[in-house]
Amino acid sequence: MATPWDFRPLEGARVHLDLLREDDFEALYAIQSDPEVCRYLLYEPRSRERVQEVLERDAAATRLGEADSFVQPAIRDAAGRLIGTMYFKIASVEDKTAEIGWLLDPRFQGQGYAREAAALLLDLSFGELGLHRVYAELDPRNAASVALCVRLGMRHEAHFREHMWFKGDWADTGIYAILEQEWRG
Ligand SMILES: CC(C)(COP(=O)(O)OP(=O)(O)OC[C@H]1O[C@@H](n2cnc3c(N)ncnc32)[C@H](O)[C@@H]1OP(=O)(O)O)[C@@H](O)C(=O)NCCC(=O)NCCS
Repeated sequence: MATPWDFRPLEGARVHLDLLREDDFEALYAIQSDPEVCRYLLYEPRSRERVQEVLERDAAATRLGEADSFVQPAIRDAAGRLIGTMYFKIASVEDKTAEIGWLLDPRFQGQGYAREAAALLLDLSFGELGLHRVYAELDPRNAASVALCVRLGMRHEAHFREHMWFKGDWADTGIYAILEQEWRG
């Protein structure tokens, strides 16, 4: 695995990934305080104070290296607007495995932007980073996220029943994953 890797912007055809900045606050707050966006996320809609903390934490997370190191870059459109964020964490150095996640402003959903942003990170994973496997964990009721995994060619690997106590009820968890050779294929 070719780490440490210091964040550099990743350029796609319609979107690019770069670090969150202080002036992303209002756009990030609009997304992370939206109950519909947060419905299947582990957190409840966030307060302004919490978004400010998270923005500072994530803007400073710039290096992938040891297990649990992460980046949470902004997804920006051609005009440079923040349209969402990606989550990418090294899960195991020995097993060359990372976890991926995604979040889009509802106004920018349904246009293939999350797919393009995820593809940038999968290209990085199986290219420069030399990873072997990337997985996503989700609530199986989250149809948009499931569909995105499938469009990316991720396999449904596991379904844990009533795996966690989630927002006042038992919830299932789905695991989707893709290997280097599958991505290249
Ligand atoms: C999960 C989430 C990121 C998926 O976003 P999305 O916009 O549906 O995903 P994509 O960017 O891949 O877009 C796919 C849609 O765009 C459409 N599309 C339009 N133009 C497209 C293009 N040029 N290329 C690809 N897809 C295109 C596809 O047909 C598809 O629409 P459909 O779902 O009606 O079939 C989004 O629903 C979200 O942010 N949810 C809230 C947060 C969340 O739950 N995150 C996941 C936690 S596990």
